[in-house]
Amino acid sequence: MLFQDERFGMFIHWGLYSIHGWHEQEQWRKNIAKEEYETLVKQFDPKEFCIDEWLELVKEAGMEYICFTTKHHDGFCMWDTKYTEYNIMNTPYHKDILREVADGCARHGIKLALYYSCPDWHYKHSVNFGGDHQLARPNPGDEPNEELYKEYIRNQMTELLGNYGKIDALFWDIPPYNRDESMNAFVRGLQPGILINNRGYSEGDYSTPERSVPSGSCFTRLTEACQSVSAASWGYRADDDYYSNLFLMQSIDNIMCRGGNYLLNVGPDALGRIPKESAEKIRTVGNWYRKVRESYQKAEWIHHPDIPCRMTVRDRYLYLHFDGVAVSSGFSLRPLNLVPRSAIVLNTGEEIAAKVEYLPYNFTAPGAPMPEYLHINRIPVDELTKELIVLRLEFEDVESVKAILNNNVRGGDLLL
Ligand code: GLC
Repeated sequence: MLFQDERFGMFIHWGLYSIHGWHEQEQWRKNIAKEEYETLVKQFDPKEFCIDEWLELVKEAGMEYICFTTKHHDGFCMWDTKYTEYNIMNTPYHKDILREVADGCARHGIKLALYYSCPDWHYKHSVNFGGDHQLARPNPGDEPNEELYKEYIRNQMTELLGNYGKIDALFWDIPPYNRDESMNAFVRGLQPGILINNRGYSEGDYSTPERSVPSGSCFTRLTEACQSVSAASWGYRADDDYYSNLFLMQSIDNIMCRGGNYLLNVGPDALGRIPKESAEKIRTVGNWYRKVRESYQKAEWIHHPDIPCRMTVRDRYLYLHFDGVAVSSGFSLRPLNLVPRSAIVLNTGEEIAAKVEYLPYNFTAPGAPMPEYLHINRIPVDELTKELIVLRLEFEDVESVKAILNNNVRGGDLLL
């Protein structure tokens, strides 16, 4: 079940916009007339598209699902739809790409979510609500009509959710101005059990913070953060600006520790290839993720104001996540004073020292009690500068650990 077992997914933005390789909203952001933009249909021929290669990469990165753009704001449909000519069957490629994606996912045991944009810069009855992303509408000759547009969407939903097997989630994008609960009810009627995001006609089942990490503690509802490997676009960009691997690891850790899912995006090019740099990034980040994944899986977030690292707990384990705070090879877990059975660096599998002791920096005043706290030693901070470090401490009695850490009372001031 998504959000419980499957926590890490690949977002895939792919469509006509990959031909120019500038940005997925090129039509609007470059003010390209509809008649000119739609000529791209005659050029779209991704001869090197191979869903097995994509999904091998997905699996190699420890990802368990994908979210695929069936229709972006430009209105072009990546499946064989009978409700508009503006679809993949009318390109030189002339094959139902969504069919290949869905069949591939079924073969590889990868779950499938579908992205569907509410703004539609092509369909003549689609509606411009006047908000961001809708400004490219109406085109000359359009006849905006909200009811007809909703009927179009419902018709397309019967195809998307009726003809491609099990669809695990629906990712609407850009909430329409007028809410309408009946749209999600319609979707659920077609795919019982589907999860629906909050960017459609109602709040749905899950939230979708984008390119940002909300502050605070644990998420209070299902949350799936999304981020791209590149900073400037979601769709393919020839000369992309890539985030650093460490930045992506920090962002994933921050979201996942708090119970969120994470969608990491790539934009395949016009031939259907995931760009080399993106694939390399997905591999590097994914390789790290596979090593530390257990620290997020069904884990509980735990916080203590005196311990400056993220913490999660699961089974007999307390996990420490060092997001840039492992400035020294030693770390004190004041006020925790229990000795773990073992302390392991998940990134490397190596065991490191952990003892309960009185440290010079826990000195408060001459003659005062000399408190002993858990102290972890020899964290390989210099060897692992390119990764976010996660440690796993195993305890006999993890309930006592939680009781101490959940008792969020700050200790007295320290004399350093
Ligand atoms: C924003 C952008 C859109 C992109 C989406 C991904 O809504 O408008 O282009 O597809 O983010 O979450």
